[in-house]
Amino acid sequence: MQLPITVAIDFMNQDHADFVKLIIQLDTALENESDEKISHIMAQLFKHTVEHFSHEESEMQRINFPPYPMHKGEHDQVINLLENAVTNWETEHSRPSLKQFIKETVMPWFYQHVETMDSITAQFIHRFDSTT
Ligand SMILES: [Fe+2]
Repeated sequence: MQLPITVAIDFMNQDHADFVKLIIQLDTALENESDEKISHIMAQLFKHTVEHFSHEESEMQRINFPPYPMHKGEHDQVINLLENAVTNWETEHSRPSLKQFIKETVMPWFYQHVETMDSITAQFIHRFDSTT
């Protein structure tokens, strides 16, 4: 599991690195840990993602970033997907489904999101802060 590209704002890079770290923990736990451990990591991943997205969102609002609704829309969609994944995990405890969700949905979305929305947003915040 590799890190996404580096963006212009440090806290975002840190959040992205923490996200990848949690995904790696989850991936490893899916191989050889208990259901309880997996539930615990899923809860951490969910909490981290909510905080990580809301930090980006408050920065976008601070600088009046015009495509804010679009960026927030993607965040909301992913929060919904993660919420469903937590519910599915808690009801079915299906490791193959969770693995598939991470590999085919979460990670492709994440890399694509960082390369597009996050990278443009970070450039905009960086420029705003260096000119004001
Ligand atoms: Fe984002």
